[in-house]
Order: sequence, then C-alpha cells, then structure tokens
Amino acid sequence: MAIDVEAVLRDLDLEQKVSLLAGFDAWHTMELPGVPAMRCSDGPAGVRGTSWQGPRSASFPCGSSLGASFDPALVEEIGHALGREARSKGVNVLLAPTVNLHRTPIGGRNFECISEDPWLTARIAVGYVRGVQAEGVAACIKHFVANDTEFERMSISSEVDERTLRELYLAPFEAAVAPLDRGGAGVQALMSSYNKVNGTFASEHSELLRGVLREDWCFDGVVISDWYGTHSAAASLEAGLDLEMPGPARLRGANLLAALRDAEVTESRVDESVRRLLDLFVATGVGERGTEELVDDSVQTRDVIRRAAIAGMVLLKNDVGLLPLALDSSIALIGPNAERGQIQGGGSAKVRPNRPIGVLSAIRGRGLDVTYEQGCSIDKRLAALTGEFVVHYESGDGATADVPTDRLSLMWMDAPAAKIDKAHFGARISGSFVPAVTGDWQFGVTSVGAAVLRINGEVVVDLSSPQTGGAFFGMGSPEIRGTVALEQGVPAIVDVDYAVIEYPMLRGLLIGAAPPAGDDPVGDAVRAAAAASVAVLVVGTNDDWETEGEDRDTLSLPGRQDELIARVAQVNPNTVVVINAGSPVAMPWLDSVAAVMQVWFPGEEFGEALADVLLGIAEPGGRLPLTIPRRLEDTPAYAHHPGRNGLAVYGEGLNIGYRWYDAEEIEPLFVFGHGLGYTTFEFGPSAVAGTILTGVDVTVSITNSGSRVGSEVVQCYVEPPAGGPVRPLRTLGAFVKVVVSAGASATVTLHLDERAFSVWDVAAHGWVVPTGEYRVVVGNSSRELREAGSVTR
Ligand code: BGC
Repeated sequence: MAIDVEAVLRDLDLEQKVSLLAGFDAWHTMELPGVPAMRCSDGPAGVRGTSWQGPRSASFPCGSSLGASFDPALVEEIGHALGREARSKGVNVLLAPTVNLHRTPIGGRNFECISEDPWLTARIAVGYVRGVQAEGVAACIKHFVANDTEFERMSISSEVDERTLRELYLAPFEAAVAPLDRGGAGVQALMSSYNKVNGTFASEHSELLRGVLREDWCFDGVVISDWYGTHSAAASLEAGLDLEMPGPARLRGANLLAALRDAEVTESRVDESVRRLLDLFVATGVGERGTEELVDDSVQTRDVIRRAAIAGMVLLKNDVGLLPLALDSSIALIGPNAERGQIQGGGSAKVRPNRPIGVLSAIRGRGLDVTYEQGCSIDKRLAALTGEFVVHYESGDGATADVPTDRLSLMWMDAPAAKIDKAHFGARISGSFVPAVTGDWQFGVTSVGAAVLRINGEVVVDLSSPQTGGAFFGMGSPEIRGTVALEQGVPAIVDVDYAVIEYPMLRGLLIGAAPPAGDDPVGDAVRAAAAASVAVLVVGTNDDWETEGEDRDTLSLPGRQDELIARVAQVNPNTVVVINAGSPVAMPWLDSVAAVMQVWFPGEEFGEALADVLLGIAEPGGRLPLTIPRRLEDTPAYAHHPGRNGLAVYGEGLNIGYRWYDAEEIEPLFVFGHGLGYTTFEFGPSAVAGTILTGVDVTVSITNSGSRVGSEVVQCYVEPPAGGPVRPLRTLGAFVKVVVSAGASATVTLHLDERAFSVWDVAAHGWVVPTGEYRVVVGNSSRELREAGSVTR
C-alpha cells in the first residue's frame, strides 16, 4: 500500500499525528489509517531483525575492520549486501553506521566505530550509507554526537568546544548528510546519542539538531532518539527530534498532547516531523514490502564479507617473512579464540550469525597438519549453556507460554511470546544438558532482575536479590558463579526461576557454564608449539570485553594470554600472533614473536579469510585506522577518561589519535596508517597541482618492488603553515588504495578539496583557510612520509 503523504497529513487528527512521533514497540512505528508501520533494526555489522532470538542473519566485519580496509568502494559493496539483508528482514531503516571516533583505545564500542580519524571515518561511512540506501533502505547514522565512550553513557555530559566538535566529531555526520553529487551520501536518518553535549541532552539539543544539522547542513531526513534516550516531550520536538524510540511513548504521547495544549510547542512542529517521517516511509517502501523475516544466506553476501575481512586484516610485523606460511608447515594453532574465532563484538551490534566459519575447522580444511590447544580461557562471563530446555513464561495477568531453546542466553525488549505482558513477566526454565567431561563444572548467572539456578535440584547460584552493574547494556547483574561436580555423559537437570519484576526497558538472563579446566592448559599449548614448525596464536577479546555499556579498563589482553604468547615464543621462533579484537591491545611480547596481524572482529567468514591470508592465497589488505599505543598513559584522552562528576571533558581538543602522538612527540607501538602486505612498494616522484580554492591534485608514482601482486594505501597529509590558529601538525586529507602487479609501477592521483586546508572559525561561524604555505606530504603511514609539494593561500 503506497502512502499518500498529502492525504494522510490532511486526514490525521492531532492525536494520531502525535502518536506517530513515538514508536509502537521496540522496532516499529505506529500503524494508522493509510500509514503502515516502519521497521528499524540494528546495525552496523549485520541486520538482526526484530528479535534477539529470531531468524539468523549474516555477520559482517566490524567498524574498525571496515576502517582498516581504507576502501570506500568495497565498503559500498558491503552496504549493498546490508541493504539486501535489511530487505530480507522487512526492515526499512538500518540503525547504522556508527561513526563516533576512537577517542580512547578502551572505548567499549570502538569496534563498532571506524577510526580515530574523522576523514577516514567520513569516507568509509559515505561508502556504507550509499550502498545501503541504493537498496531502498535508509541508513540511520549514529550516535549524534560525542558519544565516544560508555562511561555513564545515559547521563554523562561530553564537554567539547565548538571547533573540536566541527573539525572532528561532527565531520563524519556532515559528510554523510551531504548530497551524493557533492561527494556525500544523502543519509536519510540520524540517531541522537544518549549523552549530553555541553550540558544539554543530545536528543533535545536545539543548537546541534536544528542549528548544525538542519540549518547549516540542510538535513531534511528523520532524527530518531537512541533507545530510551528521549528526555522531554516539547523540548525534544522543538529541537528537531522527530521520533522517540522505542515505543510505546514514554515522554511523548499524552505528555506531548498536554504540552501542545499548554502552547509549549506548536502543531506546526508536529506537522514538520510527521511530514519528514512520511517522506521517509515513502522513500523506504513502508507498506510495500513483506514483513516476514527471512534468512538470505547468499553466496554474493558471503563473498563480500570474506573479501572485506581480508581487506581489513592488518599485518603489523613480519620481520623474517614468516608469512605467508609454507604449505608444508605443521601448525600448532593455539589460543582462546583459535577454535571458534570471535566474529563480532557485543551489544546491540550483535546478530545471530548464519554459518560462522571457525578458524580451526577452516585451517584443517586446507589439508594442513594442525594440532589445537586453547591455552587459556578469557571468559569475562562463562559461555552460554547449551542443551535442551523449555522456557515457561508467566505473565502478571496469568497468561502462560512455553518456548523451547537450546541456549540459555536470553534477552527481551518486547514480549517474549504472544499474550505475555512485556512489562510484567517471569520465567521458569527447565531442561537438561549432557556434560562432556567429568569434574567440577562452573556455572554463572547474569541477570536483569532476580534469578535462581538449580542443577540436579541443588541451588548453585542464588541471585534472588537483583543486582546491577554488569552485562545487558550495563543493566544486568555482575556474573555470580557456583560449582557443581558432574559426570560425563550423565544428563544434568537444569532449573531456573526468573522472577516477575516490573522493568520497563529490557530483561535478560545468561546462564553460563564451563567444564573443568585441564591441569596445565598453558603448558599443554607450549608443548604443542614446541612440536610444530609454526605456532599460530589467535588471541584477543570477545563480545563481553568489547561491548556496549562497558568500556575496557586496560589495554592488556584478558586472562593469561600475555604469558601464553611469551611462553610459546620461547619454544618456537616461528610464532605468529593473530590479534582478534576490535581495538588495540598491549603487546609486551612483541619483540619475541616473528609476525603479528590484527584481524579485528571480521564477521562470519573469519575462518576462511584467515586461512587464505595465512597461506598466502590472499594478501592482508588492511592499514591501521587507529594508533596502537605503547601504554594507556600515552593516549590522548588518558588524563580525562572516563570523566568525573558527570562530565567527560574533551581536554585533548583537536589532538586525538595520531595528532596527539605527533604533538606530544610520543612514539606509539604502531602508527596510524601502518600495515604491511606480502610485497614491497617504493614511492617515486610526486607532484602537486591546482589551488586550495579550486582543489589540489596530488600525483604519486609507486612501484611494486616485490615478487607478487599487492595493494598499497597511498596516504596524503596536509601540514599547515606556522602562525595562524593552533592546529595539529598534520592531518589526513586523502587516501587511495591501489593494486599493482609485481614489478609494475602506477601513478595515482589524490584530490584535496578546500576542507582539507580549513579550520572552523567560531567567530565567523564558518570554515576558513588561514593564509600561508601548506606542505603536502605523502606516504604509507602517518609517519613514513615525503614531501609532494606545497600550496599557498
Ligand atoms: C544503542 C543503539 C541501538 C539501539 C537499538 C542502543 O542501546 O546505543 O546503537 O541502535 O540500542 O538497539
């Protein structure tokens, strides 16, 4: 059913129009006569659909992996695949991409974000949005703005000056809002963030929403609040927030009708927002597509996920040319992430993946001689218990429903079953699982609300007094553990009581389990490493360490991983460390290993992608979209993170990422833009032509001096003149990824537009290019640079 915008606007009464300005449920808008419901879904590393337990969907490389590709065209292909996924789930608006910046390396959602650099973030985001929207699905870019860490995320005020906001944190949004014919993506929706910006909630920040977004950038799309991030009826509407999500209305609805009666806001503001929503509904085919949620596990999508995973893998070190591995290697595959591989981070970005390819099975599948040892475990919370269970739901009003499940990891934003009241329900879970080994099993309970776990009739964890401070977006309890002796092959009876409590936002329950650990898991791994020709360690974090609602508190790898790597390296000089984490980790063992590769959370083709790269079938194509520091104390926001007294002061100002290390003359472990391939490149002559006002073209010739085809990311930085406003030493202005055959040369042209030279002038409320001579430097990282020329303003 097509929507007739003018007729709808004419026919709806005020109450109906107001009802459109808040959601109906977690993922839909209100359905009205002539107006079907719009469906949203997370984003960004896949399209989950409307349920956490629902149909499977493809898991894509995370944001930092896409950033590392330095390849907006490839990311546009990813966008198309995501658009197709969205359509298969009846989704009109994809809540993505996430374009906040890596202000500190321990931000809990960094893996979702693209880079520390606003220009790289902007170009990758533009590719992403273009792809998604070309499929008739709107992208909802998020979180606007200065939502760069998770500490007190619902209430913290990011204290950031106007120039820093414009030059850094707003820049990716600005690029995505710009129309396609001006190099942008014409993004159709935007999500306001949870935090305050300089004291005012982002969802009612008139200066930002109405001023910057709508007036300065001419954004005519829809602004949606982050989930439960609306704080007022009239003020948010007046500021330009169109839609309160999720539904039903908490701040709007009757409150907004009252505010209209009291003339706190006018009906014309209601009409403006309704019109924008209806326009979006028309643009995204609301009512014209099926609402069924299907699984579209296509070869085309799997192929682009695999190519993107490879394109994002960053080879940090390969001093002795150990990689690619010789095909007759015997491999000891070791590490907590070595068997399954961590394909995605945690929180709202998570999907139920289609067919995740594990690392061990993929490498074994290549016919190599492989032994496997886990080495150590890194569970922050124990992995979900699997078995045969029935969840018996009971509603406050007496309704009941039984739902079978094979995994005790449950989360509900809406009612868990038909007839169950979402705000007043509890559950009794019963079932069993079969222990694979005999010994002391550990069980853990993490819960939003009260829960009691019994195994074989004995209480193992009693969480009947609910606690908060952990998982489930910060709303869950810490994990409480207990131990039970179990026998291999003898089914253990599991019962869980999950109490009926009133909780409006979200409920969740995780029952984790871990078998008894071996006597000396690190020692077993070391012995396996000593017996093999190569040791490949797959280490890192997981979706509990890098997740929404919690920052990390250290750069160190969790568990005994540092010890594991150091001891393996002692017995095998051919040690490769694969870092499977969405953001940087400390590497105290760096000098003792032969090769290190950062692979991020690469999506569900992880195993095949890694096998291709380790064996040299493909080259790791990534470059660092962030700086890897030596220690947390060296990092830009260290003095200010996480914040105090409700304030997160952005005291480092313009100097985030490489700009900080340059200004402070700090030597990082690996610099922004760094990454090796399986060949080598020589930079030849370069030249600069054009003017700042009309645009500058930088031509660079490079030669592949190695013996196989390979890609290089040519990076161009601009260094401002001395004098004038204080500025970073240099900033990334353009980049291009180029594939060159062995022995061949290529000339690439990079374009710098006026913005690459500009600063935000607060007094003039506009961009200006300070006069003087600008040096243009090119190279293959933010520190490996040579002068290409200069331009004068
Ligand atoms: C996140 C958003 C997400 C929304 C819906 C929030 O907790 O911050 O990024 O889109 O939930 O799941």
